[in-house]
Amino acid sequence: MPGARPSSTPATEARSLRAAIERANHAYYVLDAPVMPDAEYDRLFRRLQELEAAHPELMTADSPTQRVGAPPRADLPEVRHRVPMLSIRTETDAGPEGARAFDARIRRELRLVADDPAVEYSAELKFDGLAVSLRYEHGVLARAATRGDGEVGEDVTPNVRTIRSIPLRLGGVTAAVLEVRGEVFMRRDEFERLNERRRAADEKVFVNPRNAAAGFLRQLDSRITASRNLSFYCYGLGESDGWDVPRTHSAVLAALSSMGLPVADDRTVARGADELIAFHAAVAARRDRLPFDIDGVVYKVNSLELQRELGFVSREPRWAVAHKYPPQEEVTQVLGIDVQVGRTGKITPVARLAPVFVGGVTVSNATLHNEDYIRALDLMIGDTVTVRRAGDVIPQVVAVLPERRPAGARAFAMPTACPVCGSSVERDAEEKDLRCSGGLFCPAQRKQALLHFAGRRALDIEGLGDKLVEQLVEADLVRTPADLFRLDLATVEQLERMGRKSAENLLQALERARHTTLERFVYALGVRHVGESTARDLARHFGSLDALGAASEAELLEVPDVGPVVAASVARFFAEPHNREVIAQLRKAGLEWTEGAAQRTAAGHLAGKTFVLTGTLPHWTRDEAKGRIEAAGGKVAGSVSGKTDYVVAGDAAGSKLDKAREFGVAIIDEAQLKRLLEA
Ligand code: IVH
Repeated sequence: MPGARPSSTPATEARSLRAAIERANHAYYVLDAPVMPDAEYDRLFRRLQELEAAHPELMTADSPTQRVGAPPRADLPEVRHRVPMLSIRTETDAGPEGARAFDARIRRELRLVADDPAVEYSAELKFDGLAVSLRYEHGVLARAATRGDGEVGEDVTPNVRTIRSIPLRLGGVTAAVLEVRGEVFMRRDEFERLNERRRAADEKVFVNPRNAAAGFLRQLDSRITASRNLSFYCYGLGESDGWDVPRTHSAVLAALSSMGLPVADDRTVARGADELIAFHAAVAARRDRLPFDIDGVVYKVNSLELQRELGFVSREPRWAVAHKYPPQEEVTQVLGIDVQVGRTGKITPVARLAPVFVGGVTVSNATLHNEDYIRALDLMIGDTVTVRRAGDVIPQVVAVLPERRPAGARAFAMPTACPVCGSSVERDAEEKDLRCSGGLFCPAQRKQALLHFAGRRALDIEGLGDKLVEQLVEADLVRTPADLFRLDLATVEQLERMGRKSAENLLQALERARHTTLERFVYALGVRHVGESTARDLARHFGSLDALGAASEAELLEVPDVGPVVAASVARFFAEPHNREVIAQLRKAGLEWTEGAAQRTAAGHLAGKTFVLTGTLPHWTRDEAKGRIEAAGGKVAGSVSGKTDYVVAGDAAGSKLDKAREFGVAIIDEAQLKRLLEA
């Protein structure tokens, strides 16, 4: 396993673990430059806890296990928490079993028997950010502090004041002291924007939203914090004086929310284990669509009285548990770097990894995008890296751990010839990518082109997958998509893993694929830069393949949403004799598609005019109005800019109307739009 060292004695192992943990703490909390992902930190920490439990004589007062967090950075003022900021017991998420075990434990502690009613819980998200305490005095935000080691944190008041969602004054609150606790985090969209900008400026990117949030929250210069859109959700209460505290945790959250504090809607009051399980399942299903990262769920006994009765074990409340999802980041070693050749010849470097379990699957490859990406990471073969797999996103190498670079690490160079067909490699003028110049001569491109042609959203040839295409190309039975339609039963039957039945099925699928639509056919051709929606636009605009094939770049540019790159690519494709030949062969093979009348949007009398719709129109729905404008050649945009010609305003029109006035754009109503359309 990466990171594991042959352990000598428990004493030396404990010493080296402490050193490693302290180094990681310093890097994370003080330098804002993490040197290991959380999963590994947790593992080292747990191992140290185990060792100290088994060998109490090894325990030292300064062991990192003796405090909840990290030391405050010396350059932010210290704040002592009057009520310590504790952590909660964290378990690796075990799904329904975990919820049942927690409920059973609570019932045992409360000495409940089977007939007693279900315990009520507050079920919440576990936000993946930084714990922060907000102290309101007489309703006014007086101080904000990080958790630090739980006893002493850092004063981040000026920084927190820049977080727009945090009220500086609470509504209707006179309590002398009300200390609210919650999590500061960065939304995913904000994180992406931030990294995009940093990448463009050749600056180091943040590994994940939490590191970015930590970096900005703990800035000495709060103007830098203000430049970022940080978010906050509260999840609990600290000190309070002069506030009539409600009797349940859920009522506390509701009260905080009514004072104007941000509280996440994704929470529920769950009765018994079954309802906890239902919450868990609902969150798991929504997780990837949430606008921010979570790393698990939290269950808390809802009644504050029962919380008091349950109390604490060491520094963790007995009444709460966090069930943490399997890590989305792990460390592993890069064993090698392969290059893959895609459908359009793009050469992509791929890291071959020592297999690691991350984001719920075992990962042994991760894309490295292109040469620039490798350079930005400063990656060498042999390096230990952080791999991230979030949701169904393909695994990424997000960082190199430079201090673990082995002596024999090797630099990687992109190939100068295609590794599959030996053709020369060219660098795109407009992009950072390298491309094999072999075109369909290159078996790798041929395979990918065939797979694309047969794909579900193209001609949908069921059964024509990876393995089969591989064989067909290797045996030189198929060179172009047209060859597919010349396959016969005898040939197909002979292929590996191809009984009579599957051979027949494939031929039937090919037969079905002979009848398709123009837009699917255009998409299936695999023209560079032509995705599904562009294929649809092209098919509608030109109505027939001949018209599309004959179109000049200027004519292609008349299609809405087609820009110079796409127009050039389409024109180049049809100018290529080889491509025309393949299309002719496909036609000869009996391939046919429905061709419609050209819907030359640009020919409409509103061509070149841009509309923005706002508010509710009296007779038309927004889609209807949009359809009519587009049918007349006009374009409908989402927001008002200097390029907008008309804003169509209905009832309850909002800020777009102000924008229209600001830009001096004509504002019309539905009746006027109707006249314009009929003109
Ligand atoms: S309750 C005494 N609720 O996860 C209980 N914590 O240890 C205090 N966290 O330090 C924590 N979401 O930073 C609580 N809904 C939630 C949370 C949450 C995230 C963080 C918090 C805490 C850590 C768990």
